[in-house]
Amino acid sequence: MAKPRAVVTRRPPGSALESIESEAAVWLWDENRPIPTDRLVEAIADADGLYCMLTDAVGAGLLQAAPSLRVVSTMAVGVDNIDLAACTARQIPVGHTPDVLNETTADTAFALLMAAARRLGEGRDYVRAGKWDQWEPELLLGHDVNDSTLGIIGLGRVGRAIARRGLGFGMRVLYCGRHRQPAIEADLGVIHRDLNALLSESDHVVVATPLTTETEHLIDAAALARMKPTATLVNISRGGTVDSEALVDALQSGQIAAAALDVTDPEPIPADHPLVGLPNCFIIPHLGSSSRRTREAMADLATANLLAGLRGDRLPACANPEVYGKASPSPPD
Ligand code: DGY
Repeated sequence: MAKPRAVVTRRPPGSALESIESEAAVWLWDENRPIPTDRLVEAIADADGLYCMLTDAVGAGLLQAAPSLRVVSTMAVGVDNIDLAACTARQIPVGHTPDVLNETTADTAFALLMAAARRLGEGRDYVRAGKWDQWEPELLLGHDVNDSTLGIIGLGRVGRAIARRGLGFGMRVLYCGRHRQPAIEADLGVIHRDLNALLSESDHVVVATPLTTETEHLIDAAALARMKPTATLVNISRGGTVDSEALVDALQSGQIAAAALDVTDPEPIPADHPLVGLPNCFIIPHLGSSSRRTREAMADLATANLLAGLRGDRLPACANPEVYGKASPSPPD
């Protein structure tokens, strides 16, 4: 019997490609840049499965161009680039990669928090500029992470891993989200607040919520105005949850002390964007899950999802389980 056809939009790390090839005839976009939409539309015409990246927009138009498509598998936990409703309407399960990246992404959130609150980027620039010619009692004073209040927006799997790190640093941990989570509050000792209270009480705020229509520009000028002038904002969710223009104003005016971004809007952010030039804004290029071990685990889970879909089996990690007849879920984190 002929193998099913799979389009793979980027060479995945580790041995994922060999595993896919063992069960599917693969069409691979093997360039070191995202596949242009017209090439994807062309490639997907006779595909049974799509293995994609968070940079690929999988919308209703693309699905229409793929009449035989039976499974979409993204090598990411976030599915904001995929029209889940359109996939569900076609009974196409969408695989994603929850859990395997929780700890690595939480490490990144903490690295960003430490870097921004303690001004490590400015310190590195200072040394590189040859300005370090003496010890100074008030050189680049930052704000403590230990013994402070951490506010986590979105206490999903990654948010909880960040909370555990905060507790380990002796922080008081607040959270807000779609639902109150009493069992987690009791288990971890985290405290629920509504968004406005969390913003005004926290010394450091981490955005860890998925990007949805409800969370787009959740952190806007009004939200930033509620934060302390000594506060740090960290975004490890998606760039669209923060209004970039409002953030530029807040950082320039001293409305907040610092920001650290793993994700930006636009993304990639151009080098001449005002956020990039601000000394109190520490930006990295969407590296949240970027350890070798974690990216390989994501690639393997995405492979398992793809192959399960091609075989007609239930996906190990499905973002739209209602295709199997379940009630509509909340958006995955
Ligand atoms: C994801 O998987 O959604 C992350 O953003 C990748 O780092």
